[in-house]
Amino acid sequence: MGLKVVSSAIISFSLFLLLASTAKAQSKGVFDVTKYGSDKDITEALTNAWKDACASTNPSKVLIPSGTYSLRKLTLAGPCKAAIELQVDGMLKAPVDPNQFSGGHWVNFGHVDKFTLSGSGTFDGQGKAAWSKSTCQKDKDCDSLPMNLRFDFITNALVRDITTLDSKNFHVNVLGCKNLTFQHFTVSAPGESVNTDGIHVGQSTGIYIIDSKIGTGDDCISVGDGTEELHITGVTCGPGHGISVGSLGKYPNEKPVSGIFVKNCTLSDTTNGVRIKSWPALYGGVASNMHFEDIVMNNVQNPVIIDQVYCPWNQCSLKAPSKVKISGVSFKNIRGTSATPVVVQIACSSGFPCEKVELADIKVAYSGPDGPAKSQCSNVKPIISGTMSAPGC
Ligand SMILES: *[C@@H]1O[C@H](CO)[C@@H](O)[C@H](O)[C@H]1NC(C)=O
Ligand SMILES: *[C@@H]1O[C@H](CO)[C@@H](O)[C@H](O)[C@H]1NC(C)=O
Repeated sequence: MGLKVVSSAIISFSLFLLLASTAKAQSKGVFDVTKYGSDKDITEALTNAWKDACASTNPSKVLIPSGTYSLRKLTLAGPCKAAIELQVDGMLKAPVDPNQFSGGHWVNFGHVDKFTLSGSGTFDGQGKAAWSKSTCQKDKDCDSLPMNLRFDFITNALVRDITTLDSKNFHVNVLGCKNLTFQHFTVSAPGESVNTDGIHVGQSTGIYIIDSKIGTGDDCISVGDGTEELHITGVTCGPGHGISVGSLGKYPNEKPVSGIFVKNCTLSDTTNGVRIKSWPALYGGVASNMHFEDIVMNNVQNPVIIDQVYCPWNQCSLKAPSKVKISGVSFKNIRGTSATPVVVQIACSSGFPCEKVELADIKVAYSGPDGPAKSQCSNVKPIISGTMSAPGC
């Protein structure tokens, strides 16, 4: 009896110690940045909260509660000891002055496994002043402005609900990632913002972009070399330049693009719908197994386009054909309205004609003064089935 009392006293005392120490480290693995002595600028607090959470051997969460905070350039790096979540419910503001970044990024997540970025919060890049000074329209090199969010070598991860607003450069860059999902994700910037791609994916496998809303000044989603198994489903785009594979063939040794599935998406008032583009002359590459299905176009300028003579701002020679080999492409059940009479344009390379291109049920209407709607094809013999509202291919 006496022994029992003593041992239960020891048990409850050690339980008390355990609870006391976790309470100090924050309750139930939640690391709240506002408990880290921060005021308005949470850069230091977030860095320290992340460090503690990342060292935790149990799953942990870093919390940025609702409120408005400023945040300077920051890298949140792994590897971490267990699954880690960053929940952002606040409004985070980047420095307005691009010179405070020394290029690259605003917030960078790197080398984290089992990562979740969640919350109702916003990353506001405050890009307006930077766009007007941007030289991207003229220069080949315009890497100097920071992207809002960079995901480098992130695996088994989920990004949900978060909003990225007015980035100075691309909103999101995905590099070297595996099994990363974006869900209920929002990108927002004006149509006239410069080089503000929504999500750029490169050198990554198993990326899912689901039920998300992207309105911006450049590509809604752009797909770079080395992308495999990219699934884009239930995404609405506009304004912007549409969903784009490429541009490819601009640099030597680009890795193949393969397994791109775009399904149940809506594009409104964009300059392109679904597009594959490569530079003429220059370098070789391979893009195959790309499928676009159940897509609605609302007043889109180039609804369906393969462009192997992509050469913006005359940065290239049009004398030699593209060396990028495109094959295994299907466009199926694409409907809605076009802002121009050319509804389907498939301009393949004369050096490497496209192979196994399939068009089925492309019902996109044009009702403007330059009609009727038509399709244009070169260096390709597409397999056509179903209803085609625009003849020509
Ligand atoms: C992909 O990541 C999610 C976490 O977001 C995880 O639940 C799932 O098991 C992972 N899939 C594979 C095949 O590892
Ligand atoms: C298609 O996408 C919309 C969002 O744009 C979503 O509400 C709807 O459930 C999706 N339908 C299917 C069949 O996945």
